[in-house]
Amino acid sequence: MTCTVVVGGFFGDEGKGHLVSYLAMKDRPVITVRGGVGPNAGHKVVYQGKTYGLRMVPCGFVYPGSRLLIGPGVLVNPKVLLEEVKLTGTENRLGIDNQCAIIEERHIEEELKNAYLVSRLGTTKTGVGTCQADRAYRKAKLAKEFPELSRYLTDVPLEVNTAIAKKQKVLVEGTQGTYISLYHGTYPFCTAKDVCASAICSDVGIGPTAVDDVVVVFKAFVTRVGEGPLENQLPAEELERRGWLEFGTVTSRPRRAAPFDFKLAKRAVMLNGATQAAITKLDIVYPECKGVKDFEKLPEEAKKFIRQVESEIGVLVTLIGTGPSVEETVDRRRQ
Ligand code: GTP
Ligand code: MG
Repeated sequence: MTCTVVVGGFFGDEGKGHLVSYLAMKDRPVITVRGGVGPNAGHKVVYQGKTYGLRMVPCGFVYPGSRLLIGPGVLVNPKVLLEEVKLTGTENRLGIDNQCAIIEERHIEEELKNAYLVSRLGTTKTGVGTCQADRAYRKAKLAKEFPELSRYLTDVPLEVNTAIAKKQKVLVEGTQGTYISLYHGTYPFCTAKDVCASAICSDVGIGPTAVDDVVVVFKAFVTRVGEGPLENQLPAEELERRGWLEFGTVTSRPRRAAPFDFKLAKRAVMLNGATQAAITKLDIVYPECKGVKDFEKLPEEAKKFIRQVESEIGVLVTLIGTGPSVEETVDRRRQ
């Protein structure tokens, strides 16, 4: 498929990093372009025994033939970006849009001083909310004003739409998740923007008719970091017993967790216009799944769960994560 958009179906941290890096290796897109809020999202990529925690550089970096772009809707922290570019060795293929707004030190300081944001909402202390507010006031500075970014500046919507017009593959990487969307999430316990599929497309400058597929990513259980409602949340001791305990990539805070929520998943398919779904961490709920790549080789109980998800949400589960590493993926898409 020419243009595929990947988004989160729960509260973020569904494992989009794993999924996007798998799709990049498998489908070899000419462009992987990141949408979403900014460096408040941490994608983890485990590839060839190495773990990368990426907050700015698109996870498609694992495929060396992919140009890596950051859309104008994304807030950029130059320090975080330049460190990651170095870490991933992607100096020659990274581009950020001229119109990305820039997070400055003052945005982080302002957030830290704001008890409503930090204590009540439990924000990530990355300055994204305060920078996004400045952007709404039209006070935020744009990437084109920063000499240290000059070599990376480009017109992202033009690059992406040109590739799509040539029927080349483009992978659009969303961040965060449906239920922390400013519009569709658990307000006020949510992020500073909409992060559903149509917003991710707007972030990178593509129209709805340019998209062929939307993959909504769920985890085999639900996790949530920070404050806000989480139905059927399990106590910490139970999470430890089940091996479901996780820690945030950006904040290192323990994530809260609950069993898979069919109702939320069904609504996420609707809100994102998903054409297919992915489920990660099946190996955590059903340990015999670890490393399996063939659907038929999954234990019966796990297959039953996948079929139940499909029948409740109304789209096929085409991709399944069976371990943190990029290769540990079941791919049921028609090739
Ligand atoms: P956000 O953009 O912040 O929402 O992040 P994300 O969706 O990329 O997820 P993140 O990397 O923050 O968290 C997912 C965690 O699950 C990471 O620690 C991954 O390494 C891990 N992970 C992803 N897929 C799998 C899987 O199939 N099995 C196992 N065991 N771990 C996985
Ligand atoms: Mg994350």
